[in-house]
Amino acid sequence: MSTNTRQSFTDTTIEVRKFDPNLERVERYYIANDPFKTHFSNAMSITFPEGERYFLRSVLAYRDEISDPKLQDDIKQFCAQEAQHSLVHDKLNETAKRFGYPVKAIEAVISRVLRGRTEWAKTSAFWKRYNLAATTCLEHFTAILAKQALTRPDIIFNGMDPAIRALYQWHAVEEIEHRAVSFDVYKATGGSALLLRIVMLITSFMFIFTSLRITYVLLHHDGVAFKWSTWKSAIGYLFLPPEAMLFRVIPDWLTFFLPGFHPSKYHGDLDTRAVLNEVGEYLQPVATV
Ligand SMILES: [Fe+2]
Ligand SMILES: [Fe+2]
Repeated sequence: MSTNTRQSFTDTTIEVRKFDPNLERVERYYIANDPFKTHFSNAMSITFPEGERYFLRSVLAYRDEISDPKLQDDIKQFCAQEAQHSLVHDKLNETAKRFGYPVKAIEAVISRVLRGRTEWAKTSAFWKRYNLAATTCLEHFTAILAKQALTRPDIIFNGMDPAIRALYQWHAVEEIEHRAVSFDVYKATGGSALLLRIVMLITSFMFIFTSLRITYVLLHHDGVAFKWSTWKSAIGYLFLPPEAMLFRVIPDWLTFFLPGFHPSKYHGDLDTRAVLNEVGEYLQPVATV
């Protein structure tokens, strides 16, 4: 498809920033000395570098079909932001390797699955479309998590190492900025709303399952997977106030299924400037070409 009509509905400026964390002194349990919370964070961080590189490939596969210069520019900024996120999460994952966790083996499995899907997409229109749909769904998921991080920082970051807190805050701001790009590419290239909703159900399950599976592997490595204190922390974090992460995200997750849903209609009121000021000491602007 190639038209000259408006294809980008992203009204936010997508700015690429370099985040330079000093993670040298990060401790083994960097969230309130709590193994579950730390490893749940590690689990997500381990999925990010390969996951975000998969997002890039999935969106770039459609780049030649986009005629709107604004959406072309959004794609470029989206890719540059996600590339920075991958690099910084690689650094965070290095700290987990330093403590002896089997990060490399887990990354190898994720890489094999996601790179396999990209390979399939080279000869299959279905997989090319599926990859973009999965990226669009996971971008909604990351925007929801970002909103949690930005609106409830005292709860989400309670007891977290300050450098890692800043890392997640920066990542959250940029996820909000580029939340609509993959969706716009999906729509502009004729993606079906029904397929998107089906893929949302599949990817949501896979995202939660994978995060918890990796968390379990890391907890098992420490020999604390079946300790009552670990389960107490997990139940509280996922289901009970004040965190209740799984319950808190449900209303925003459901918006995806509303007729006429577009990511730019949501989260536009978040005060990302204040958060960027807070983490400013770690940031440098990056010129993109
Ligand atoms: Fe990201
Ligand atoms: Fe993203």
